[in-house]
Parts: sequence; structure tokens; C-alpha cells
Amino acid sequence: MVEIAPSILSADFSRLGEEIQAVERGGASLLHVDVMDGRFVPNITVGLPVVRAISRATRLPIDAHLMIVEPGRYAEQFVKAGAKMVSIHVEADAHLHRTIAGIKSAGAQAGVAINPATPLSALDDALKFADYILLMSVNPGFGGQEFIDASPDKVRRLRAMIQERGLKTRIEIDGGIDLKNINEVVSAGAEIIVSGTAVFGSGNPEASVRDLQEATVQWV
Ligand code: DX5
Ligand code: ZN
Repeated sequence: MVEIAPSILSADFSRLGEEIQAVERGGASLLHVDVMDGRFVPNITVGLPVVRAISRATRLPIDAHLMIVEPGRYAEQFVKAGAKMVSIHVEADAHLHRTIAGIKSAGAQAGVAINPATPLSALDDALKFADYILLMSVNPGFGGQEFIDASPDKVRRLRAMIQERGLKTRIEIDGGIDLKNINEVVSAGAEIIVSGTAVFGSGNPEASVRDLQEATVQWV
């Protein structure tokens, strides 16, 4: 089953509760929250208080994507704030194993995120510790960027690595996903699909989530 995870980064923050209800009605299975610190990426977004507020306002599990330096300082706090999945960037953490263990022992699934220009070999040792890999299909920092064409091939190579090792690690893909490319990334092996602009920029987030989900029915 392919899961659609709308990214609230492209939502209307003045009506965040209603926007979340709309994607719930559309059949979203997760809510993707992009946390940016203005250091790891050139943008600042939201943090712990927003995750805490959203977790009280939705039944959807929160998938927190930490685009921050030294994520080990905050990762467990995001679990306590209500996130059920927390991903940290392989490029940002010198103590990845420790941070992953902390996320898991706090009670959430732990993900490792990887930038477009970082080779999959950077995941070599981390792969067996992570519940999922978040593969970036744009350079992190902003919504609404163009999908990087090399991404499906990277998903395919990651899927092969996971299979060769007999692991159950799931693949999440994030950035520039819309109705035109969703099938390409799903057929390559992605199971969790993040989408911001194609959902909240469409004028009808409920219908857009449903359309993305329906586009993938052949892969159920
Ligand atoms: C980018 C974020 C993404 C972004 C996706 O740094 O990690 O989650 O919100 O938005 P779209 O679908 O607009 O690329
Ligand atoms: Zn994200």
C-alpha cells in the first residue's frame, strides 16, 4: 500500500486546522512536517510547538523531517511532542546511530534522510538501523521545486541495496512529486510519497490527495 504524506509546508498556515482536515478526508495516511533551522538549509519553518499543536488536532501520524544541524539535540523532543516518525539527515549528524536509537527508544520510527548529491554509499552502515530512508528528490529547503530526474534511478538502487541485505526498510521520497511522476517513483520502489505543492497548491487538497492515491492503485 502506497502512503501519501502531504507536506504542510505548502499549506495556508492561517487555516492549518482546516487544511489538515481536508487531507484527512482525502485519505492521507501521514502528515509530513518540515522542520528547518536556517543552517542545514537556507530556510526557517516550524518547530516543537507546532508539532505539539498539530498532534492534538489530527488523528494522522506525524512524520517529522528534521532539516537541522545536530539533530541529535532535538530528535527525541519531537517524539515527545507527538511525532510518530522522525527523520534526520545523514549529512547533518556525526552520531547517527545514537540519534536513531534515541528516536526508537522514545517510541517513534526512525528515518535517515539523504540529499540528492549524497551517494547511497553514505547509508551503507546506517541502513540496517533505520526504519525508513527519506530520499530527497529536490535539494531540501523549499516547497515547489522541480523534481530531479535522476531520483527514480536512485530509488531503484536503494531498493536493490535493501533487498540484497534482506531488510524491511521502507523508502520515502520527498520533493516535486505530482501526478505526472508519482508512478515512476512508486514503480522504482518508493512506498511513502511526500507531496506539498501538488496537494496544497491545487485549490482542492482533499481531491488532490485522492487523485495521487488513485494514481497508485495498480501498485497496491
Ligand atoms: C523540501 C521539503 C519537502 C517539501 C515538498 O525541503 O522537505 O517536504 O515540502 O514540497 P513539494 O511537494 O512542493 O516539493
Ligand atoms: Zn520534507
